[in-house]
Amino acid sequence: MFIDTHCHLSREDYDDIDKVIKEDKEAGVDKIVVSGCSRESIDEVMSFKDKYDMVYVTIGYHPEYADNVRENDLDFLENLLSEKKIVGIGEIGLDYHYTKDNKDKQIWLFEEQLKIAEEFNLPVVIHSRDATQDTINTLKKYNVKGIIHCFNGSLETANIYINMGFLLGIGGVVTFKNSKLKDVVKEISIESIVLETDSPYLTPVPFRGKVNSSKYLSYIAQEIASLKGVDVSIVAEITSKTALSLFDFK
Ligand code: NI
Repeated sequence: MFIDTHCHLSREDYDDIDKVIKEDKEAGVDKIVVSGCSRESIDEVMSFKDKYDMVYVTIGYHPEYADNVRENDLDFLENLLSEKKIVGIGEIGLDYHYTKDNKDKQIWLFEEQLKIAEEFNLPVVIHSRDATQDTINTLKKYNVKGIIHCFNGSLETANIYINMGFLLGIGGVVTFKNSKLKDVVKEISIESIVLETDSPYLTPVPFRGKVNSSKYLSYIAQEIASLKGVDVSIVAEITSKTALSLFDFK
C-alpha cells in the first residue's frame, strides 16, 4: 500500500480523471493527497475529494501567486477548512527561482498561511525553491509540522529540516540519473521520508517524458528501497505509517 502525499489533479492535465484514479488504485496506491494551490484549482480539487474515496486535499496559495492573493482569498481558504477531507495547508512557501523582487509579498503570504495552519492545527506542505534560508527562518517562527515537498537539497539542509521535526517528500527526482538526492536518501532514515509524485510533473524513470501520476509511486519507492538496501515493502510500510500519523485521514 502506497500513499502519495503530494500531487496535483486537474482536467487541464488529464482527459479522464476516472481512469487516472482507477489506475492509481490498481497500482497499489491507497490514498492520494491532492494539492489545490490557486483559487481555481482549490475549487476543482474540492470537487474531486467529494467524488473519489481515495482523494484527500491540501489547500493553500503557492508563492507564484503572491502578487495576486488578497485578504479575502485568505478568508476564502479559512472558511473551507471545516470541510471534510482537507488534511493540510499547501503547497505554500517561497520560490526565488524566477524572481525575488516580490520577496516581501511571498514572505507575507507564506506567514499568513502558516498562521492559519497553526490556528487550525493542520500540517503544512512546503514548497521551497532557491529560498532555503528564508524558508527555514520563516518556519522557525511558527509551531507547525509537515512536509518539505520535493526535497532536493544537501544532507546538511535535510538534517536541519529533520531536526525541526519536518518530513522530507521524496519523488521522481530520486530516480533521475546522477541525482545528488540519491546520496542524501542513503544517509537519512526512512522514518523521515514520505513518498510523493508531484504529478503531473517530475515523472520518474523509466517514464520520463510522459505525464506523471500516482500510479508510478512504486518506482520511487523501489529506488529508495535500493538505496537503503531494503525490500520495497518496507519502504511502503514505513512511509505509509508516517503519512498516516501526519495527516488525519478519517
Ligand atoms: Ni506540487
